[in-house]
Amino acid sequence: MLILGIETTCDETGCSVVKDGMTILSNVVTSQIDLHSEYGGVVPELACRRHVDVMIPVLHEALNKAKVTLNDIDLIAVAQGPGLIGALLIGINTAKALAWSLQKPLVGINHIEAHLYAALMSTPEEVQYPCLGVVLSGGHTSLVLMKELGKYDLIGQTVDDAIGEAFDKAAKVLDLPYPGGPQIEKLAAKGDSYRFAFRAGKIKGKPFDFSFSGLKTGVLYAVRDIKEANTILTAKDKSDIAASFQRVAFEDVIKKTVLAAKKYSCHSVVFGGGVTANDHLKLLFKEQAPSLECIWPEKKLSLDNAAMIAGLAYHQYTQKKHSLGLDMEALTSMPF
Ligand code: KG4
Ligand code: ZN
Repeated sequence: MLILGIETTCDETGCSVVKDGMTILSNVVTSQIDLHSEYGGVVPELACRRHVDVMIPVLHEALNKAKVTLNDIDLIAVAQGPGLIGALLIGINTAKALAWSLQKPLVGINHIEAHLYAALMSTPEEVQYPCLGVVLSGGHTSLVLMKELGKYDLIGQTVDDAIGEAFDKAAKVLDLPYPGGPQIEKLAAKGDSYRFAFRAGKIKGKPFDFSFSGLKTGVLYAVRDIKEANTILTAKDKSDIAASFQRVAFEDVIKKTVLAAKKYSCHSVVFGGGVTANDHLKLLFKEQAPSLECIWPEKKLSLDNAAMIAGLAYHQYTQKKHSLGLDMEALTSMPF
């Protein structure tokens, strides 16, 4: 079954052709970093206009790279949410137009669930359920008990900033360009991760919830204190802050993941979301949680992409045989 996936939840326009849920024939993503970097974050109105401009060229490129035509496509899949409303609408309306004109079924996919599926697409091994899903993205930080594909219980989530958002905000305080995650990772590699005693939040009575806003404020205060004492922030100060921030954020994720895996008897952990592009995170998991089987998405599937949308759609459609109507709506939040 050939599935065309479309992804426009935030600032990446993606189209991909995937065969039978696993074989990626093409995976085209255009990033809008150039457009948003001068503002230090995504500007929704600009994101929408760029999606409109590049949607059709990206679609053609995905079909060409896969060496297929629209007539070869069996199913149209689109990220239905969560995301920016205007951005979602562009992908969804493109998908509806294609489904209607080609008379093909249409499915709406949960972008966050697709991030977890990206890891399953990255390994030839069958995952053993139940397993623990760990979502670390720019908009979400969640622990999910995966009973089987499509059956999930949310067991923890952030009560304020998502982890990727905290990376982006900490980077902004350090005058680093958007997106901050890769910049922090690079700087942190040269820094002393124990110089600053930052702390991630604990939520009373909710051991699997996260809070990163205090950690981000810790970075702000560290910068303020150094500037007040020495007037300038040196390159060494910046690397030490980045390294300390990254260590504390990741150790918090590792501690809660290990605890949840134990409580819910999960041997394997499936990771998803842009922050999983961070190599230091993988290293820390190896060092600090060696008994967990960690299933990571390939780098090209960590960040937003349409292959994960098309891949997950194969299972959703073959299990439920359900095609959405042309009245399908964009969902800015979409629960598991
Ligand atoms: O999953 P994603 O592409 O978009 C959302 O669904 O939100 O994640 C984007 C987030 C951004 O906050 C970005 O800074 C972060 O992923 N990110 C990273 C790295 N690469 C991207 N965070 C830490 N280290 C990285 N190497
Ligand atoms: Zn995403």
